[in-house]
Amino acid sequence: MKFSAKTLIVGLVLVAGVALAETAATDANVIARQDLMKSFGGAAKTLGGMAGGEVAFDAAAAEAAKAVLIAGSAEIAAKFEVNAADPGSEAKPDVWTNWDDFALKAKGLNDAATALDASTVEGVQAGMGAIGGACKACHTAYRM
Ligand code: HEC
Repeated sequence: MKFSAKTLIVGLVLVAGVALAETAATDANVIARQDLMKSFGGAAKTLGGMAGGEVAFDAAAAEAAKAVLIAGSAEIAAKFEVNAADPGSEAKPDVWTNWDDFALKAKGLNDAATALDASTVEGVQAGMGAIGGACKACHTAYRM
């Protein structure tokens, strides 16, 4: 069951998102980038649920989630451009000292989302590993 492990990866990414959000951010820049990430969380949940069979496959919903990831990942650099300090932020300072690599990891998500075949459940199952991996690669390096 190849896709179960992949679904698990995405699940872990989502769980970590909830567990770490202890202090609410107040800086508008930080809120905006966290909102962008939340939209990724929603899209990954939709796709992961379909891949794992917890949610009935719906091609239109899968396409919409894919579109959120493609458009949103293209916005990561703009949303993180300002190095705003906020106790509610979980971004490591390395985001701004390793900017090129951070931008490369944003592109990694864009590439993985673009490559996703959202027209069949098999396509979603096959593509979720790369998407979950792209979230994880950036979070491991750049998120507290
Ligand atoms: C290029 C880097 C990068 C990529 C790719 C990325 N993230 Fe993030 N993510 C971050 C950083 C940095 C933060 C912490 C932002 C902050 O708190 O200022 C974060 C925070 C989050 C949060 C918490 C948001 C909140 O409310 O505080 C969630 C949920 C999340 N990411 C989900 C995802 C998912 C799902 C994916 C993949 C589909 C993904 N991210 C891809 C860098 C990334």
